[in-house]
Amino acid sequence: MYNTLSTQLKDGILEITINRPDKLNALNQEVMKELALAIDEVYKNHDVKSALITGAGPKAFIAGADISEFLTLSPEQGAELAKIGHTIFQRIEESHKPIVAAVNGFALGGGCELAMACHFRVASENAKFGQPEVNLGIIPGYGGTQRLVQLIGKGKALELMMTADLVGAEEARQLGLVNHVTTQEALLDRTRELLKKIQAKAPLAIGRVIKCVNAYFKLEEEGGFETEIAEFAACFATQDLQEGAEAFIQKRQPQFKGE
Ligand code: COA
Repeated sequence: MYNTLSTQLKDGILEITINRPDKLNALNQEVMKELALAIDEVYKNHDVKSALITGAGPKAFIAGADISEFLTLSPEQGAELAKIGHTIFQRIEESHKPIVAAVNGFALGGGCELAMACHFRVASENAKFGQPEVNLGIIPGYGGTQRLVQLIGKGKALELMMTADLVGAEEARQLGLVNHVTTQEALLDRTRELLKKIQAKAPLAIGRVIKCVNAYFKLEEEGGFETEIAEFAACFATQDLQEGAEAFIQKRQPQFKGE
């Protein structure tokens, strides 16, 4: 049914696996389209009581948006890209059924943003989180500037987004970015266990808890998310983004000029 992800429904849990392991599950436009369909299924299929999102292979949850698609984008197309990401990730965040990320490796850029849009995160010991967009002459564009601050606070969020440093699973747990750390082997079972526990509670009450917690952030959110889309789009008019994305593809260090 899908090209870039696989889904499996078991015990009421829709397990969504992003499946491009040779590209570390990077989010290209096809993945985003298919992810939107899978999230629709979470909303609409009565047999689905909750969902888990993970990545295929032992190395990555998702290593970010697909950088190879950045080179040809205009600012207008950058804004479109960000809006698509915002819409899907907001649907995840606002889902009345619980959606949990099982982070099995690199969760970088759009991958970290997707994990943060989920209701909470469980990570394996090898997981690494970060928003390294400034390495490429870009900024987070799928809600990261807002959700990272919500989860770990302003100072640490600014440090991570400005240094492009990655944090390991245990540090991510201490920061409040992930709730539990497990071995790689135990990751999915631990996440399923938590979801089954939630599924045994009153579903309408769970949906209301999600709605109320999201409402806490709403006022600030509108302005912040809109600003992020505009600033993300503006990156696509810069030489620095061309240089950053090209350098990544050519496997060399970028030479930024601030242009
Ligand atoms: N977009 C597109 N392709 C990506 C990607 C991304 N975000 N992340 C990884 N890939 C691809 C690589 O280009 C490589 O493809 P190739 O085999 O055809 O050359 C493949 O996935 C494996 O990645 P590689 O870089 O060889 O693995 P590694 O173990 O040496 O490094 C990372 C792993 C995660 C450190 C490195 O891939 C990386 O820095 N990725 C980009 C992270 C990022 O900046 N994300 C934010 C994007 S906005």
